[in-house]
Amino acid sequence: MRTLRAVRYSSCISAIALALLAFPAAAAAEPFFPRAGNKGYEVRRYEVQLAYRPQQEGRIDANTMVAATATAPLERLSLDFFGPRVLEVRVGGERASFRRRPGKLLVRPRREIEEGSSFAVVVRYSGVPPKIVDPDGTPEGWLRTDDGVIAVGEPQGTAAWIPCNNVPADKAPFHFEITVPRGLKAVANGRRRFVQGNARTETFTWVERAPMSTYLAVLNIGRGRLVKERIGRLPSWTLVDPRMERASRKPLALLPEIVRFQSRLFGGYPFESAGSIVDYAPDVGYALETQSRPIYTFVPERTLLVHETAHQWFGDSVGLERWPNIWLNEGLATWTEWYYAERHGGRSAQQIFEALYRVPASKESFWNPPSGHPGGPEHLFATSVYVRGAMAVQALRQKIGTKPLLRVLRRWATEHRHGSANVKQFIALAEQVSDRNLERLFDRWLYQRGKPR
Ligand code: ARG
Ligand code: ZN
Repeated sequence: MRTLRAVRYSSCISAIALALLAFPAAAAAEPFFPRAGNKGYEVRRYEVQLAYRPQQEGRIDANTMVAATATAPLERLSLDFFGPRVLEVRVGGERASFRRRPGKLLVRPRREIEEGSSFAVVVRYSGVPPKIVDPDGTPEGWLRTDDGVIAVGEPQGTAAWIPCNNVPADKAPFHFEITVPRGLKAVANGRRRFVQGNARTETFTWVERAPMSTYLAVLNIGRGRLVKERIGRLPSWTLVDPRMERASRKPLALLPEIVRFQSRLFGGYPFESAGSIVDYAPDVGYALETQSRPIYTFVPERTLLVHETAHQWFGDSVGLERWPNIWLNEGLATWTEWYYAERHGGRSAQQIFEALYRVPASKESFWNPPSGHPGGPEHLFATSVYVRGAMAVQALRQKIGTKPLLRVLRRWATEHRHGSANVKQFIALAEQVSDRNLERLFDRWLYQRGKPR
Protein backbone atom coordinates (compact mmCIF):
# COMPACT_ATOMS: atom_id res chain seq x y z
CA MET A 1 0.00 0.00 0.00
CA ARG A 2 2.72 2.40 0.95
CA THR A 3 4.47 1.93 -2.40
CA LEU A 4 1.27 2.88 -4.21
CA ARG A 5 1.22 6.17 -2.40
CA ALA A 6 4.82 6.83 -3.42
CA VAL A 7 3.93 7.39 -7.07
CA ARG A 8 1.94 10.49 -6.15
CA TYR A 9 5.15 12.35 -5.39
CA SER A 10 6.43 14.13 -8.46
CA SER A 11 10.08 14.22 -7.47
CA CYS A 12 11.87 11.00 -8.35
CA ILE A 13 14.09 11.27 -5.37
CA SER A 14 11.32 11.38 -2.84
CA ALA A 15 9.60 8.53 -4.64
CA ILE A 16 12.75 6.46 -4.40
CA ALA A 17 13.27 7.46 -0.80
CA LEU A 18 9.72 6.44 0.03
CA ALA A 19 10.10 3.20 -1.86
CA LEU A 20 13.23 2.49 0.13
CA LEU A 21 11.36 3.21 3.33
CA ALA A 22 8.61 0.85 2.25
CA PHE A 23 10.84 -1.86 0.89
CA PRO A 24 12.82 -2.93 3.97
CA ALA A 25 9.58 -3.61 5.81
CA ALA A 26 8.29 -5.75 2.96
CA ALA A 27 11.66 -7.47 2.54
CA ALA A 28 11.91 -8.23 6.24
CA ALA A 29 8.40 -9.68 6.20
CA GLU A 30 9.08 -12.28 3.53
CA PRO A 31 12.43 -12.10 1.81
CA PHE A 32 11.83 -14.94 -0.70
CA PHE A 33 8.40 -13.70 -1.82
CA PRO A 34 8.42 -9.93 -1.38
CA ARG A 35 5.01 -9.57 -3.03
CA ALA A 36 3.32 -12.07 -0.72
CA GLY A 37 1.64 -10.99 2.46
CA ASN A 38 -0.55 -8.01 3.23
CA LYS A 39 -0.35 -5.28 5.80
CA GLY A 40 -2.76 -4.06 8.42
CA TYR A 41 -4.60 -7.20 9.49
CA GLU A 42 -4.30 -10.73 10.82
CA VAL A 43 -6.59 -13.48 9.62
CA ARG A 44 -8.80 -15.15 12.20
CA ARG A 45 -10.53 -17.70 9.99
CA TYR A 46 -11.11 -18.77 6.39
CA GLU A 47 -14.32 -20.22 5.01
CA VAL A 48 -14.07 -21.57 1.49
CA GLN A 49 -17.26 -22.49 -0.32
CA LEU A 50 -16.63 -23.92 -3.75
CA ALA A 51 -18.51 -25.82 -6.43
CA TYR A 52 -16.49 -27.76 -8.98
CA ARG A 53 -18.09 -28.19 -12.39
CA PRO A 54 -16.21 -30.68 -14.55
CA GLN A 55 -18.86 -30.48 -17.27
CA GLN A 56 -18.08 -26.78 -17.64
CA GLU A 57 -14.36 -27.11 -18.39
CA GLY A 58 -13.62 -27.62 -14.71
CA ARG A 59 -14.84 -24.21 -13.71
CA ILE A 60 -15.36 -23.36 -10.06
CA ASP A 61 -17.93 -21.04 -8.54
CA ALA A 62 -16.54 -19.96 -5.22
CA ASN A 63 -17.24 -17.76 -2.25
CA THR A 64 -14.47 -17.28 0.27
CA MET A 65 -14.85 -15.47 3.55
CA VAL A 66 -11.73 -14.13 5.21
CA ALA A 67 -12.38 -13.03 8.77
CA ALA A 68 -9.64 -10.83 10.13
CA THR A 69 -8.65 -8.36 12.82
CA ALA A 70 -7.33 -4.97 11.78
CA THR A 71 -3.91 -4.15 13.23
CA ALA A 72 -4.10 -0.62 11.77
CA PRO A 73 -6.89 1.62 10.51
CA LEU A 74 -7.69 0.34 7.01
CA GLU A 75 -8.89 2.57 4.24
CA ARG A 76 -7.83 -0.13 1.80
CA LEU A 77 -6.61 -3.67 2.13
CA SER A 78 -5.22 -6.38 -0.10
CA LEU A 79 -5.30 -10.15 -0.39
CA ASP A 80 -2.97 -12.48 -2.28
CA PHE A 81 -4.89 -13.98 -5.19
CA PHE A 82 -3.93 -15.54 -8.53
CA GLY A 83 -7.42 -16.92 -9.04
CA PRO A 84 -10.06 -16.47 -11.74
CA ARG A 85 -12.50 -13.64 -12.31
CA VAL A 86 -13.72 -11.85 -9.22
CA LEU A 87 -17.42 -11.06 -9.42
CA GLU A 88 -17.96 -9.32 -6.14
CA VAL A 89 -16.24 -8.31 -2.93
CA ARG A 90 -18.09 -7.48 0.26
CA VAL A 91 -16.68 -6.10 3.47
CA GLY A 92 -18.93 -6.16 6.50
CA GLY A 93 -21.81 -7.13 4.23
CA GLU A 94 -21.41 -4.06 2.00
CA ARG A 95 -20.20 -4.15 -1.55
CA ALA A 96 -16.65 -2.88 -1.83
CA SER A 97 -14.77 -1.70 -4.89
CA PHE A 98 -11.79 -3.76 -5.97
CA ARG A 99 -8.96 -3.96 -8.49
CA ARG A 100 -6.66 -6.75 -9.61
CA ARG A 101 -2.87 -6.53 -9.71
CA PRO A 102 -0.51 -9.44 -10.45
CA GLY A 103 -1.05 -11.82 -7.53
CA LYS A 104 -3.18 -9.32 -5.64
CA LEU A 105 -6.75 -8.34 -5.01
CA LEU A 106 -6.95 -4.73 -3.83
CA VAL A 107 -10.09 -3.85 -1.92
CA ARG A 108 -11.52 -0.50 -0.87
CA PRO A 109 -14.31 -0.93 1.67
CA ARG A 110 -17.19 1.54 1.83
CA ARG A 111 -15.95 2.84 5.15
CA GLU A 112 -12.62 2.72 6.90
CA ILE A 113 -12.03 -0.26 9.18
CA GLU A 114 -10.99 0.76 12.67
CA GLU A 115 -7.79 -0.51 14.16
CA GLY A 116 -8.45 -3.45 16.47
CA SER A 117 -11.84 -4.27 14.97
CA SER A 118 -12.90 -7.57 13.46
CA PHE A 119 -14.17 -7.65 9.92
CA ALA A 120 -15.02 -10.12 7.17
CA VAL A 121 -14.16 -9.90 3.50
CA VAL A 122 -16.24 -12.10 1.21
CA VAL A 123 -14.93 -12.68 -2.30
CA ARG A 124 -17.09 -14.29 -4.98
CA TYR A 125 -15.18 -15.64 -7.98
CA SER A 126 -15.68 -17.93 -10.91
CA GLY A 127 -13.59 -19.62 -13.58
CA VAL A 128 -10.72 -22.08 -13.75
CA PRO A 129 -7.98 -21.36 -11.19
CA PRO A 130 -4.45 -21.38 -12.56
CA LYS A 131 -1.61 -23.79 -12.16
CA ILE A 132 1.37 -21.97 -10.65
CA VAL A 133 4.96 -22.80 -11.52
CA ASP A 134 7.05 -22.22 -8.44
CA PRO A 135 10.62 -20.86 -8.46
CA ASP A 136 12.19 -24.34 -8.68
CA GLY A 137 10.06 -25.16 -11.72
CA THR A 138 7.60 -27.54 -10.04
CA PRO A 139 3.85 -27.19 -10.45
CA GLU A 140 1.50 -26.16 -7.64
CA GLY A 141 -1.73 -24.27 -7.21
CA TRP A 142 -4.75 -25.72 -9.02
CA LEU A 143 -3.68 -28.91 -10.79
CA ARG A 144 -6.13 -30.73 -13.00
CA THR A 145 -6.00 -34.51 -12.94
CA ASP A 146 -7.78 -36.90 -15.28
CA ASP A 147 -10.62 -37.35 -12.76
CA GLY A 148 -10.58 -34.08 -10.84
CA VAL A 149 -8.22 -31.71 -9.10
CA ILE A 150 -5.27 -31.54 -6.74
CA ALA A 151 -4.89 -28.15 -5.08
CA VAL A 152 -1.61 -27.74 -3.21
CA GLY A 153 0.26 -24.65 -2.18
CA GLU A 154 3.86 -24.94 -1.05
CA PRO A 155 5.21 -22.31 -1.20
CA GLN A 156 2.75 -19.99 -3.05
CA GLY A 157 0.00 -21.96 -4.78
CA THR A 158 -2.89 -21.61 -2.35
CA ALA A 159 -3.56 -18.10 -3.65
CA ALA A 160 -4.46 -19.76 -6.97
CA TRP A 161 -7.82 -20.79 -5.49
CA ILE A 162 -8.20 -18.99 -2.16
CA PRO A 163 -7.79 -15.24 -1.69
CA CYS A 164 -5.62 -15.16 1.41
CA ASN A 165 -2.78 -13.64 3.38
CA ASN A 166 -0.24 -15.97 1.84
CA VAL A 167 2.62 -15.98 4.35
CA PRO A 168 3.33 -18.94 6.63
CA ALA A 169 3.18 -17.08 9.94
CA ASP A 170 -0.39 -15.79 9.55
CA LYS A 171 -2.16 -18.98 10.57
CA ALA A 172 -5.89 -19.45 10.91
CA PRO A 173 -8.50 -22.22 11.11
CA PHE A 174 -10.10 -23.28 7.81
CA HIS A 175 -13.58 -24.37 6.91
CA PHE A 176 -14.22 -25.95 3.48
CA GLU A 177 -17.55 -26.65 1.82
CA ILE A 178 -16.91 -28.36 -1.50
CA THR A 179 -19.63 -29.32 -3.96
CA VAL A 180 -18.88 -31.92 -6.61
CA PRO A 181 -20.97 -34.01 -9.03
CA ARG A 182 -22.21 -37.25 -7.51
CA GLY A 183 -19.64 -40.01 -7.93
CA LEU A 184 -16.71 -37.77 -7.10
CA LYS A 185 -15.24 -37.20 -3.65
CA ALA A 186 -13.78 -34.03 -2.17
CA VAL A 187 -11.23 -34.13 0.63
CA ALA A 188 -9.56 -31.23 2.41
CA ASN A 189 -7.80 -30.71 5.74
CA GLY A 190 -9.22 -31.61 9.13
CA ARG A 191 -12.37 -33.41 10.13
CA ARG A 192 -15.24 -34.25 7.87
CA ARG A 193 -18.39 -32.66 9.24
CA PHE A 194 -21.23 -33.41 6.85
CA VAL A 195 -21.97 -34.72 3.44
CA GLN A 196 -25.16 -33.31 1.99
CA GLY A 197 -26.46 -34.17 -1.39
CA ASN A 198 -29.16 -34.03 -3.99
CA ALA A 199 -29.73 -36.03 -7.13
CA ARG A 200 -26.81 -34.47 -8.98
CA THR A 201 -24.29 -33.18 -6.45
CA GLU A 202 -22.72 -33.84 -3.10
CA THR A 203 -21.26 -31.27 -0.71
CA PHE A 204 -18.39 -32.26 1.57
CA THR A 205 -17.68 -30.10 4.61
CA TRP A 206 -14.22 -30.26 6.17
CA VAL A 207 -13.02 -28.29 9.17
CA GLU A 208 -9.46 -27.74 10.36
CA ARG A 209 -9.80 -26.03 13.71
CA ALA A 210 -6.10 -25.73 14.52
CA PRO A 211 -4.37 -22.69 13.08
CA MET A 212 -2.99 -23.50 9.64
CA SER A 213 -0.54 -21.76 7.32
CA THR A 214 -2.15 -21.11 3.94
CA TYR A 215 0.46 -23.20 2.10
CA LEU A 216 -0.74 -26.29 3.98
CA ALA A 217 -4.28 -26.18 2.60
CA VAL A 218 -5.22 -29.10 0.39
CA LEU A 219 -8.14 -30.01 -1.80
CA ASN A 220 -8.42 -33.26 -3.67
CA ILE A 221 -11.34 -34.03 -5.94
CA GLY A 222 -11.53 -37.36 -7.69
CA ARG A 223 -12.82 -40.86 -7.78
CA GLY A 224 -12.15 -43.36 -5.02
CA ARG A 225 -13.33 -44.65 -1.70
CA LEU A 226 -13.23 -42.24 1.19
CA VAL A 227 -12.46 -44.39 4.21
CA LYS A 228 -12.74 -43.33 7.82
CA GLU A 229 -10.73 -45.17 10.44
CA ARG A 230 -9.35 -44.48 13.88
CA ILE A 231 -5.84 -44.30 15.23
CA GLY A 232 -6.69 -44.80 18.88
CA ARG A 233 -9.15 -41.97 19.41
CA LEU A 234 -7.92 -39.93 16.46
CA PRO A 235 -10.25 -40.02 13.43
CA SER A 236 -8.44 -40.58 10.15
CA TRP A 237 -9.77 -40.15 6.59
CA THR A 238 -8.11 -41.56 3.52
CA LEU A 239 -8.90 -41.13 -0.16
CA VAL A 240 -6.99 -43.21 -2.67
CA ASP A 241 -7.29 -43.17 -6.43
CA PRO A 242 -8.81 -46.54 -7.40
CA ARG A 243 -5.88 -47.24 -9.71
CA MET A 244 -3.45 -46.98 -6.82
CA GLU A 245 -5.48 -48.67 -4.13
CA ARG A 246 -3.87 -52.08 -4.22
CA ALA A 247 -0.31 -50.82 -4.25
CA SER A 248 -1.00 -48.23 -1.54
CA ARG A 249 -2.70 -50.53 0.92
CA LYS A 250 0.47 -51.80 2.59
CA PRO A 251 2.31 -48.52 3.08
CA LEU A 252 -0.84 -46.62 4.18
CA ALA A 253 -1.59 -49.30 6.76
CA LEU A 254 1.62 -48.25 8.53
CA LEU A 255 0.27 -44.78 9.35
CA PRO A 256 -1.11 -45.68 12.82
CA GLU A 257 2.22 -47.07 13.96
CA ILE A 258 4.09 -44.08 12.51
CA VAL A 259 1.76 -41.62 14.24
CA ARG A 260 2.10 -43.47 17.56
CA PHE A 261 5.87 -43.68 17.30
CA GLN A 262 6.23 -39.98 16.59
CA SER A 263 3.64 -39.01 19.20
CA ARG A 264 5.74 -40.79 21.83
CA LEU A 265 8.87 -39.12 20.52
CA PHE A 266 7.72 -35.55 20.00
CA GLY A 267 4.73 -35.33 22.35
CA GLY A 268 1.03 -35.67 21.49
CA TYR A 269 -0.06 -35.58 17.86
CA PRO A 270 -0.86 -31.90 17.23
CA PHE A 271 -4.16 -32.13 15.29
CA GLU A 272 -7.62 -33.60 15.77
CA SER A 273 -7.59 -35.69 12.60
CA ALA A 274 -5.19 -37.61 10.37
CA GLY A 275 -5.19 -39.54 7.11
CA SER A 276 -3.71 -39.67 3.64
CA ILE A 277 -4.57 -38.67 0.10
CA VAL A 278 -3.13 -40.65 -2.79
CA ASP A 279 -3.92 -39.39 -6.26
CA TYR A 280 -2.51 -40.10 -9.68
CA ALA A 281 -0.54 -37.07 -10.91
CA PRO A 282 2.80 -38.24 -12.31
CA ASP A 283 3.75 -34.77 -13.54
CA VAL A 284 3.55 -33.29 -10.02
CA GLY A 285 6.21 -35.61 -8.68
CA TYR A 286 6.27 -34.68 -5.01
CA ALA A 287 4.35 -35.29 -1.82
CA LEU A 288 3.24 -32.57 0.54
CA GLU A 289 2.68 -32.42 4.30
CA THR A 290 -0.75 -30.76 3.98
CA GLN A 291 -2.03 -30.22 7.51
CA SER A 292 -3.51 -33.28 9.20
CA ARG A 293 -3.60 -35.15 5.87
CA PRO A 294 -0.55 -35.33 3.58
CA ILE A 295 -1.00 -35.80 -0.13
CA TYR A 296 0.99 -38.21 -2.31
CA THR A 297 0.91 -37.95 -6.09
CA PHE A 298 2.27 -41.50 -6.47
CA VAL A 299 2.21 -44.66 -4.36
CA PRO A 300 4.17 -43.66 -1.24
CA GLU A 301 6.85 -45.68 0.49
CA ARG A 302 7.10 -46.05 4.23
CA THR A 303 9.95 -43.54 4.53
CA LEU A 304 7.91 -40.88 2.78
CA LEU A 305 4.99 -41.45 5.15
CA VAL A 306 7.42 -41.06 8.04
CA HIS A 307 8.68 -37.81 6.49
CA GLU A 308 5.27 -36.24 5.89
CA THR A 309 4.02 -37.35 9.30
CA ALA A 310 7.05 -35.76 10.99
CA HIS A 311 6.09 -32.50 9.27
CA GLN A 312 2.82 -32.51 11.22
CA TRP A 313 4.99 -31.48 14.19
CA PHE A 314 7.80 -29.75 12.30
CA GLY A 315 6.34 -27.38 9.74
CA ASP A 316 2.62 -27.70 10.38
CA SER A 317 2.19 -27.37 14.14
CA VAL A 318 5.49 -25.54 14.66
CA GLY A 319 5.29 -23.31 11.62
CA LEU A 320 7.84 -21.18 9.84
CA GLU A 321 8.19 -17.57 10.78
CA ARG A 322 9.62 -16.98 7.29
CA TRP A 323 10.51 -19.16 4.31
CA PRO A 324 14.33 -18.97 4.67
CA ASN A 325 13.84 -20.99 7.89
CA ILE A 326 12.86 -24.03 5.78
CA TRP A 327 15.58 -26.15 7.46
CA LEU A 328 13.27 -26.38 10.49
CA ASN A 329 10.83 -28.26 8.26
CA GLU A 330 12.96 -30.35 5.94
CA GLY A 331 16.01 -30.96 8.13
CA LEU A 332 13.95 -32.20 11.07
CA ALA A 333 11.57 -34.29 8.92
CA THR A 334 14.46 -35.95 7.08
CA TRP A 335 16.33 -36.69 10.31
CA THR A 336 13.12 -38.27 11.65
CA GLU A 337 13.24 -40.69 8.68
CA TRP A 338 16.72 -41.76 9.74
CA TYR A 339 15.86 -42.13 13.40
CA TYR A 340 12.72 -44.09 12.52
CA ALA A 341 14.84 -46.50 10.45
CA GLU A 342 17.29 -46.85 13.34
CA ARG A 343 14.50 -47.76 15.76
CA HIS A 344 12.89 -50.18 13.31
CA GLY A 345 15.80 -52.48 12.56
CA GLY A 346 17.35 -50.47 9.75
CA ARG A 347 20.58 -48.56 9.47
CA SER A 348 21.30 -46.16 12.31
CA ALA A 349 21.12 -42.43 11.73
CA GLN A 350 24.85 -42.35 12.46
CA GLN A 351 25.54 -44.95 9.75
CA ILE A 352 23.50 -42.93 7.28
CA PHE A 353 25.35 -39.79 8.30
CA GLU A 354 28.73 -41.47 7.85
CA ALA A 355 27.87 -42.84 4.43
CA LEU A 356 26.74 -39.38 3.31
CA TYR A 357 29.75 -37.70 4.84
CA ARG A 358 31.89 -39.60 2.34
CA VAL A 359 30.47 -37.47 -0.45
CA PRO A 360 33.47 -35.40 -1.51
CA ALA A 361 33.60 -31.66 -1.02
CA SER A 362 33.96 -31.35 -4.78
CA LYS A 363 30.34 -32.43 -5.17
CA GLU A 364 29.12 -28.85 -4.78
CA SER A 365 25.42 -29.45 -5.33
CA PHE A 366 25.31 -31.99 -2.52
CA TRP A 367 26.69 -29.55 0.06
CA ASN A 368 25.27 -26.28 -1.24
CA PRO A 369 23.35 -24.20 -0.55
CA PRO A 370 23.87 -24.59 3.21
CA SER A 371 20.53 -25.56 4.76
CA GLY A 372 20.30 -22.52 7.02
CA HIS A 373 20.81 -20.15 4.09
CA PRO A 374 19.00 -21.52 1.07
CA GLY A 375 19.82 -18.26 -0.71
CA GLY A 376 16.69 -17.91 -2.81
CA PRO A 377 13.23 -19.38 -3.34
CA GLU A 378 14.50 -21.64 -6.12
CA HIS A 379 16.58 -23.51 -3.49
CA LEU A 380 13.86 -23.97 -0.86
CA PHE A 381 13.63 -27.67 -1.66
CA ALA A 382 17.22 -28.29 -2.72
CA THR A 383 18.71 -31.66 -1.79
CA SER A 384 21.09 -29.96 0.63
CA VAL A 385 18.20 -28.43 2.59
CA TYR A 386 16.98 -31.97 3.27
CA VAL A 387 20.08 -34.14 3.45
CA ARG A 388 22.73 -31.80 4.74
CA GLY A 389 19.92 -30.43 6.92
CA ALA A 390 19.35 -33.85 8.51
CA MET A 391 23.12 -34.28 8.87
CA ALA A 392 23.14 -31.06 10.89
CA VAL A 393 20.64 -32.62 13.29
CA GLN A 394 22.73 -35.77 13.54
CA ALA A 395 25.87 -33.65 14.12
CA LEU A 396 24.00 -32.00 16.98
CA ARG A 397 23.13 -35.43 18.33
CA GLN A 398 26.80 -36.46 18.19
CA LYS A 399 27.72 -33.39 20.17
CA ILE A 400 25.02 -33.34 22.86
CA GLY A 401 23.82 -36.98 22.96
CA THR A 402 20.63 -38.75 21.98
CA LYS A 403 18.53 -38.03 25.06
CA PRO A 404 19.25 -34.31 25.06
CA LEU A 405 18.55 -34.10 21.32
CA LEU A 406 15.19 -35.81 21.77
CA ARG A 407 14.48 -33.46 24.65
CA VAL A 408 15.22 -30.50 22.34
CA LEU A 409 12.85 -31.81 19.65
CA ARG A 410 10.12 -32.52 22.14
CA ARG A 411 10.38 -29.15 23.79
CA TRP A 412 10.49 -27.48 20.36
CA ALA A 413 7.25 -29.20 19.38
CA THR A 414 5.62 -28.42 22.71
CA GLU A 415 6.71 -24.84 23.26
CA HIS A 416 5.85 -23.67 19.74
CA ARG A 417 2.80 -25.90 19.25
CA HIS A 418 0.41 -24.28 16.75
CA GLY A 419 2.76 -21.29 16.49
CA SER A 420 5.62 -20.11 14.31
CA ALA A 421 9.32 -20.06 15.06
CA ASN A 422 12.77 -19.41 13.62
CA VAL A 423 16.20 -21.06 13.51
CA LYS A 424 17.71 -18.72 16.08
CA GLN A 425 15.17 -19.90 18.61
CA PHE A 426 16.00 -23.51 17.82
CA ILE A 427 19.68 -22.91 18.41
CA ALA A 428 18.94 -21.11 21.68
CA LEU A 429 16.79 -24.02 22.87
CA ALA A 430 19.49 -26.57 21.95
CA GLU A 431 22.04 -24.52 23.90
CA GLN A 432 19.74 -24.27 26.87
CA VAL A 433 18.88 -27.97 26.98
CA SER A 434 22.48 -29.10 26.50
CA ASP A 435 24.03 -26.29 28.52
CA ARG A 436 26.66 -25.85 25.80
CA ASN A 437 27.73 -23.20 23.37
CA LEU A 438 26.71 -24.57 19.97
CA GLU A 439 27.40 -21.51 17.88
CA ARG A 440 30.31 -23.04 15.98
CA LEU A 441 28.55 -26.33 15.30
CA PHE A 442 25.47 -24.62 13.86
CA ASP A 443 27.55 -22.12 11.98
CA ARG A 444 29.48 -24.90 10.25
CA TRP A 445 26.47 -27.11 9.58
CA LEU A 446 23.83 -24.57 8.74
CA TYR A 447 25.54 -21.49 7.41
CA GLN A 448 28.98 -22.10 5.89
CA ARG A 449 29.11 -23.05 2.24
CA GLY A 450 30.77 -26.31 1.25
CA LYS A 451 31.37 -29.54 3.14
CA PRO A 452 31.51 -28.94 6.91
CA ARG A 453 34.79 -30.05 8.44
N1 ARG B 1 7.61 -30.08 1.55
C1 ARG B 1 7.48 -31.17 0.62
C2 ARG B 1 8.10 -32.37 1.29
O1 ARG B 1 9.21 -32.30 1.74
C3 ARG B 1 8.12 -30.90 -0.71
C4 ARG B 1 7.52 -29.78 -1.46
C5 ARG B 1 8.16 -29.60 -2.77
N2 ARG B 1 7.56 -28.49 -3.39
C6 ARG B 1 8.08 -27.83 -4.38
N3 ARG B 1 7.45 -26.78 -4.79
N4 ARG B 1 9.19 -28.19 -4.94
O2 ARG B 1 7.51 -33.39 1.41
ZN1 ZN C 1 9.51 -32.40 3.60
